[in-house]
Amino acid sequence: MTKETRSVAGLLNVSFGMALDDGGVPGDRGVDARMLSGYEELLANADRCLRKGCADKQEGMGWLSLPYADISEILEAAEWLRGFDAVVQAGIGGSALGNLMLHGALLPPYWNEIPAAKRGGPRFYLSDNVDPRDNMTVWKLIDPDRTAFIVISKSGSTAETMANFLFFWDRLKVELGPRRAAEHVLVVTDEEKGVLRPFADEIGCRRLVLPADVGGRFSVLSSVGLLSAGALGIDVRKLLAGAAEMDKKLSGLASILENPAWLLSALSVAHYRQGRNMTVMMPYEDALEKFCEWFSQLWGESLGKDGEGSTPVRALGAIDQHSQIQLYTEGPDDKLFTIITVSEPDEDVTIPETEERALVPLSYLFGQSMNSLRRYEALSTAAAIVKSGKPVLTIEIPRMDERRLGALIQLYEHMTALSGFLLNVNPFDQPGVEQGKNYTYGLMGRASYSSQALEVTQLADRLSMREVSV
Ligand code: PA5
Repeated sequence: MTKETRSVAGLLNVSFGMALDDGGVPGDRGVDARMLSGYEELLANADRCLRKGCADKQEGMGWLSLPYADISEILEAAEWLRGFDAVVQAGIGGSALGNLMLHGALLPPYWNEIPAAKRGGPRFYLSDNVDPRDNMTVWKLIDPDRTAFIVISKSGSTAETMANFLFFWDRLKVELGPRRAAEHVLVVTDEEKGVLRPFADEIGCRRLVLPADVGGRFSVLSSVGLLSAGALGIDVRKLLAGAAEMDKKLSGLASILENPAWLLSALSVAHYRQGRNMTVMMPYEDALEKFCEWFSQLWGESLGKDGEGSTPVRALGAIDQHSQIQLYTEGPDDKLFTIITVSEPDEDVTIPETEERALVPLSYLFGQSMNSLRRYEALSTAAAIVKSGKPVLTIEIPRMDERRLGALIQLYEHMTALSGFLLNVNPFDQPGVEQGKNYTYGLMGRASYSSQALEVTQLADRLSMREVSV
């Protein structure tokens, strides 16, 4: 169906013919090869800037060197965590989503419910949102004496993370006493910023550095993501090796139709310029559900600024075939679709045959593999989108393993950073996120943030000028 496929040998295949054509839409909404080639020089320059910025340790550009970093300290800390029954991590956004993405893709589902002997690694609980009920539940589920507590914050000050950590730290001290409690804590934070570094010095707990030139949403391949992944038994060296493999391939491909990061970036921006201001990512693999969540933050926070940015939309096949496909096919032509499939999933089952007469109409399923049903579902969705004249590209990953996931992460980080250059926005800052944090600090009474509290109160007055009560 898709006419053009590019393979990054052994890592993944990108098929993009139906995103490059005009998708059957007559008139001026199509994206053709001529339009894409218009981006080639910009992308070549952007790539040079990124690599130079990384070498010069410019703010936000350090993610490019993460696949080659020395991770011995992280591995040592991960080994220490493996001695506990459970790990509780406080962190949010870039200090949390990557962890869930790695675990979701590479660990068996229902991890915490697998018996300890079969699991071979601690249970994992994430405390990211501000939800007292969640924290209380986690506290009841763990044995504090057998649990390690990680707190991750690049800025070392995010209110949600600090509040959640304070909750556990307070109870832990009561349970174990301050000295033993400190032996259960590991802090991951910037070398200089925030309160966590001096806190770690004060209580004498373990700590790992979050590199200064790596931003939160680009930090999954640093201590942020690798620590819990390593503790739970994911081979983080292979993850980095896959990312390095992708990085090396990308650095050697100087044509837009060959380099998948250039291609995905140019297609995304070209379709956005044609009025498709949403980018829908729809894997047909439960293991990649959290990949979409991680990508949404990466894409949304990196590109949503100065009035630019397409909105990332998370979908999951086949579930959203029964929820969103109606809108996707017959709704407005304002989306670029990416369907992700894994060609050789780890497990398969044969759909069993049965003899009840009432079920004879289901005989078309008998004896078929469940994975082939899933494959056909993905193909049907792609076909339905194509039929409706909307642009779709597909990414096919041979297997979901550390090497391929590392490569996929590196590809998407790279294409997101490049898209920032094409849109002429800085992909490495997040003033909108900081604004929200500052308002919260002000409202919660943090010293020197009173002007923020005043501003948010004035804005809130505007919010409540008209009201309906029921
Ligand atoms: O990507 C970002 O910069 C943000 O989304 C942060 O990851 C998030 O706000 C958490 O920040 P911190 O790690 O400083 O607590």
